[in-house]
Amino acid sequence: MKETVKAAILGGTGVYSIEGIKTVKQTVDTDYGSVEVMQGTGKWNDLYFISRHGTDHAVPPHMVNYRANIAALKKLEVEKVLAIYAVGSITELVPPGGFGLVSQFIDATQGRINTFYNGGDSGLKHTPMDEPYCRDMGNKIVSAAKKRGFPIAESGTYICTNGPRFETPAEIKMYRIWGADYVGMTGATETALAREAGLHIAAISYSINWAAGVEKDLAFLSDEEIRNTKNVLTDIALDVLFDEPGRCRCTN
Ligand code: HPA
Repeated sequence: MKETVKAAILGGTGVYSIEGIKTVKQTVDTDYGSVEVMQGTGKWNDLYFISRHGTDHAVPPHMVNYRANIAALKKLEVEKVLAIYAVGSITELVPPGGFGLVSQFIDATQGRINTFYNGGDSGLKHTPMDEPYCRDMGNKIVSAAKKRGFPIAESGTYICTNGPRFETPAEIKMYRIWGADYVGMTGATETALAREAGLHIAAISYSINWAAGVEKDLAFLSDEEIRNTKNVLTDIALDVLFDEPGRCRCTN
């Protein structure tokens, strides 16, 4: 990869920093608001990190300023984004503690601002979503995970609910029929905006619970288990983000 290519990690629940990398904090002002962005130092100078819920998990999923986050990455000239999502497992594809690449999403949110193109001065654009995630980055994530002996589902469908409440068992039953494997509350909004902005985006789900009604109780992984998972994800991310680029269909 060219040295000038910049990459970012968008982290959520349990992923509030880049493990093992010293960062400096900066505030990036955008047309949609200001964003706190961490930037790697030294040889990681081209790596950025945004904690989408804030560093103290204070911003609920329906209140995240998704447009500002993506606009900040664009302003920093980031080209590749790896999004990491804590999810609930709907199918057995990825049980709690496991990883899965996201290859498709279903947007079940309501009332969120999920576009940069609102007509008028901002214009109108219908961004293709037939391949929402970067195929090249996805392939590399799978190889990197396998190299480390971490099983990862090579594809999976993420359904994005509005939150902040969890789902009812009836909703999860319906989402399973719709074809969803994982459920989270942020992925669809973020991906749609990233693609509108012309970013390459790949996403990894890491499951922290069975979704409502799949098992008797909604039991979550412990903080320590989530932390360990987070470290593995960071390793994988660093392997992938600065590799030579291959073929993908992300340009729009
Ligand atoms: N539902 C929605 N979002 C989630 C869940 C869930 O069960 N687990 C982690 N994020």
